[in-house]
Amino acid sequence: MSPEIFLDVRNLTKHFPVRSGPFQRPSGKVQAVTDVSFHLSQGESLSLVGESGCGKTTLARTLLRGYEATAGSAWFRTEEGEVVDLLTLRRRRLKPLRRQLQMDFQDPYSSLNPRMTVQRIIDEPLRIHGEALGITTREDRRDRVRQLLLQVGLRPEAARRYPHAFSGGERQRIGIARTLASRPRLVVADEPVSALDVSVQAQILNLMLALQERFRIGYLLLTHNLMVVRHVSDRIAVMYLGRIMETAPAETLFTSPGSGTDPGSA
Ligand SMILES: Nc1ncnc2c1ncn2[C@@H]1O[C@H](COP(=O)(O)OP(=O)(O)OP(=O)(O)O)[C@@H](O)[C@H]1O
Ligand SMILES: [Mg+2]
Repeated sequence: MSPEIFLDVRNLTKHFPVRSGPFQRPSGKVQAVTDVSFHLSQGESLSLVGESGCGKTTLARTLLRGYEATAGSAWFRTEEGEVVDLLTLRRRRLKPLRRQLQMDFQDPYSSLNPRMTVQRIIDEPLRIHGEALGITTREDRRDRVRQLLLQVGLRPEAARRYPHAFSGGERQRIGIARTLASRPRLVVADEPVSALDVSVQAQILNLMLALQERFRIGYLLLTHNLMVVRHVSDRIAVMYLGRIMETAPAETLFTSPGSGTDPGSA
């Protein structure tokens, strides 16, 4: 694994068993993700684009160990410089890495707890990971929440309010602040803007990408909407029926589709 690469996914495969009949016998499998390989450097964004059902969410969940992979590996270089396989690492050793791996959610309405103020929502990761982040006192945490709100383009006063008082775009900004709070190295975003009005999608994506570059986060964006990623990705991979068909730098894909690299070397 060359030094600039910090995530190297090889042949990731996730098949779900299918059971049927009166005795629920195994009768086949859904090949949701098959032999997906790609790599990501620090501060780079890669988009995986593909139609509904092609395996995007399954891929994201499997990578972050929501599902156990059927096969494959996902080598990750930790902040400490150790290289580990996310897919087989023991849960006990995975736990301290969670801070470095974050998932951004599709739906800004259901992903924020309506009973918590924005202060508490963003403060949560700070409380959990405070030690690793060097943030220990309540004042430090309050300052950090203010700073995060400013970074995502909200006013510090927002901290006192509840999620229902914000628009969809603003809620997505709150979600981004919460994701950034733990200083992740890898953010996996599954359709991060598809629940938003088209007019704010670009704004939010541009914000995410600006922050991703600034903090040198590796960003894996999964979406069915090719137009969404056109201007914001370094590289785009096209997924179809659970496999990566083609990977290319964003410009190339739009000017001459079919001229990218084969699957496997994404
Ligand atoms: N838990 C599961 N058990 C069985 N099959 C599943 C499971 N989760 C997903 N699948 C199947 O795997 C395939 C990929 O689904 P997935 O949700 O990953 O697609 P997606 O690309 O995220 O689609 P969308 O764009 O609609 O969100 C689908 O055929 C789906 O039915
Ligand atoms: Mg999905």
